[in-house]
Amino acid sequence: MQNRKLGTTGKSLPAIGLGCMGLSEFYGPPTEQGAAIKLLHEAIDLGVQHFDTAEMYGMGANETLLGEAFHDRRDKVFIASKFGPIRDPDTGMPVGIDGSRENCRRAVEGSLERLGTDVIDLYYLHRVDPATPIEDTVGAMAELVAEGKVNAIGLSEAGADTIRRAAKVHPISAVQSEYSIFSRDIEAEVIPACIDVGATLVAYSPLGRGMLSGRFKKDANLGEDDYRAMTPRFQGEAYEANVALVDEIEAVASAKSCQPAQIALAWVLGRGEHVMTIPGTTKLDNLKVNLGAYDIELTDDEQATLDRLADRVMGDRYDERGMSIINA
Ligand code: ATR
Repeated sequence: MQNRKLGTTGKSLPAIGLGCMGLSEFYGPPTEQGAAIKLLHEAIDLGVQHFDTAEMYGMGANETLLGEAFHDRRDKVFIASKFGPIRDPDTGMPVGIDGSRENCRRAVEGSLERLGTDVIDLYYLHRVDPATPIEDTVGAMAELVAEGKVNAIGLSEAGADTIRRAAKVHPISAVQSEYSIFSRDIEAEVIPACIDVGATLVAYSPLGRGMLSGRFKKDANLGEDDYRAMTPRFQGEAYEANVALVDEIEAVASAKSCQPAQIALAWVLGRGEHVMTIPGTTKLDNLKVNLGAYDIELTDDEQATLDRLADRVMGDRYDERGMSIINA
């Protein structure tokens, strides 16, 4: 277990948290509620504190799940949630991003209720709303801090300028972005901005949505309700090329007698004290493997081998719409 400071809050958290999205949506059918609650309780027993959810995951169902799981152990967990993306209530399709004060205030009340708590430890703008100045959104979020509904503010997939502007309004404790051996585009500008404003970088999809664990081979076999099937890196020749790159991660892992997922997480944690990560899993065995990454130290040679992979990854992180709303 390694604790790291969250932004300038003075709060320390174990560097590996749990991304909870996949328990409700996007990576196949939702986990049965009893099994999901059991996993969340086991995670606490294993020392996990930081649990990451959002209003949009399962259209509220993921927050409700965390509320059920944590109502009698609220003091043991650090809950992060997010608002901004709006979905059609009937179809679930994305209809836009709303970073307005009105939507911020509406969303937080729903999240607090579903989570069954009086305060959200870390509240993010999930995607930046191009129609609302970031100063207005963060100003509204700062009101929530003043009212005691939220303890700290974060931004997700924000660009460097947005991060700097936001930090002038209120301290930004965390920036959550995709970051992994395969996804390093934020190193050029976003991470320097995080360091400048004192925000922790919370790395999501540190396992490349599972790909870096080596679990995907010749055929991904993704079901219809698996969002990954729609993403470029899991399609066609990009998929084959990317899975071949994972062989190189597996080779590093087998030489160290550990799991590729542990190599992927050790790489992320090795980027510095300003980084935490929230790998997602629905399975206790995988959670234990992931927490084993605390004990893995990469040599300079291993690091250099892994550092060479990102440039060879094929395909964007998201489809066209998804790409248009990141780094905003
Ligand atoms: P995200 O942040 O989007 O959740 P991620 O953390 O990069 O993405 O990867 C999550 C995926 O990796 C999930 O599909 C998860 O599947 P399970 O629920 O079956 O575990 C998979 N995953 C997580 N840890 C894993 C491990 N140690 N070995 C294999 N797959 C793992």
